[in-house]
Amino acid sequence: MSLRSGDRVEVIIDSLAYGGKGVARYRSQVVFVALAAPGDRARVRVVEARQRFAEAVIEELLEAGDERRDPRCPAFGRCGGCQWLHVSAAAQARAKEEALFSTLARIGKVSPSARDPMVAAGAGGELGYRSRAILRGRSAGGAATLGFFAEGGRSLVGLPASCLVLDPRLDRAVAELSQRRWPAGAFELELTAVDDGRVHATLHVEAAAGYARALDGFPHRILDGRGRLLAETEPQLRVATKLSAAGRDVTVLTRPGVFSQVHRAQNQRLVDCVLEYAALTGTERVLDLYSGSGNLALPLATRARSVTGVEWSAESVADARLGAEASGLTNCDFHASDVARWLGSPDPEGHGVVVLDPPRPGAAEAMAPLAGARPRRIVYASCNPATLARDAGRLAALGYRLARARAIDMFPQTFHVEAVALFVPVDAGRVPQDES
Ligand SMILES: C[S@@+](CC[C@H](N)C(=O)[O-])C[C@H]1O[C@@H](n2cnc3c(N)ncnc32)[C@H](O)[C@@H]1O
Repeated sequence: MSLRSGDRVEVIIDSLAYGGKGVARYRSQVVFVALAAPGDRARVRVVEARQRFAEAVIEELLEAGDERRDPRCPAFGRCGGCQWLHVSAAAQARAKEEALFSTLARIGKVSPSARDPMVAAGAGGELGYRSRAILRGRSAGGAATLGFFAEGGRSLVGLPASCLVLDPRLDRAVAELSQRRWPAGAFELELTAVDDGRVHATLHVEAAAGYARALDGFPHRILDGRGRLLAETEPQLRVATKLSAAGRDVTVLTRPGVFSQVHRAQNQRLVDCVLEYAALTGTERVLDLYSGSGNLALPLATRARSVTGVEWSAESVADARLGAEASGLTNCDFHASDVARWLGSPDPEGHGVVVLDPPRPGAAEAMAPLAGARPRRIVYASCNPATLARDAGRLAALGYRLARARAIDMFPQTFHVEAVALFVPVDAGRVPQDES
């Protein structure tokens, strides 16, 4: 008989699901258990029952699994920022690899010829890594609660006195800002650590009145609900990310409040992996889609004949050009355009290598025009295994096979995982070989 809501059963947690929950089996049903760790034996209460699976919560932990550890955070279990503070680093790594490769197989019906080993964050990179965070805020007029939405909901959970995953500079800024005098209302606050030790604040509100005072002393930018700029201090301020590419240094410049990778140490590993998969010899013309401020394009340009970046944020495009100049790179150009629109027009240059790093929804509409241009290599960086898998399935149908893939842990203590995948044509003979 299937489980029903309210049932209490004893289960053993086998693994962790993408999304964060523990996975157990009860008879023929899969049971997703909130806040569970692999190896836990627990009495759980079913809170939602469907035909093939059930959702449950732990009523009594009968025996803690070997992978369970003390989460060390008073907000753990309520705050939606971290899902796996109570799970060992090794178990997190296994779960992320498994999430990537099983999702590729299940949704995309593809598996790579080579599974490259996961790039873990390592002991020094598992905590205090978040150099940029988008927080929610609320005030009744006076001090503010700053934090993340609760797991699976929209109620605000204030950050504890010390958040384990925030860069300590952000942690101090949260402590200070929350004590300021805020106008009554709700807002979104993006904090970014900048190089001189300060923290930049980008605030999204309906109207600016009273907010500039709350941010006094912090470089800041205030935007309204439609993204219109209401106030700004230090518009020249940029985060300078130093990256190494084949022994050469490049500097990526990013305006605070605009997309940048949150884990700066792991970002170098991401760049290393993209360079490895792109396997450039110096003769290639590279197309970098969703290029942001040039985080991948500039390192690629150190090894390519040329790089063309396509990104719809005009601010990021301007920063990418600044970064290229600061890095002494003259072989890259950047275009402010929607990727699908860009791919809709003919590519007179013929790019032999395409790198793409889309946001979470992926790049479904880009797959057909991309494959139609027959690049020799497609290197796809993704922060969402499900949309990567969907797009990988499309590429497979369009004559590309998944040659290699690897997971990179850019978001320790959460279920999120970054992945890089290399696609090559099944029929290499139909692809132009010489680009020079
Ligand atoms: C995951 S970020 C990657 C940026 C960059 N590769 C990096 O590593 O920092 C995705 C980028 O795609 C841009 N973007 C999102 N949708 C787009 C679209 N349809 N066309 C062009 N750019 C887009 C975003 O503004 C963002 O900069």
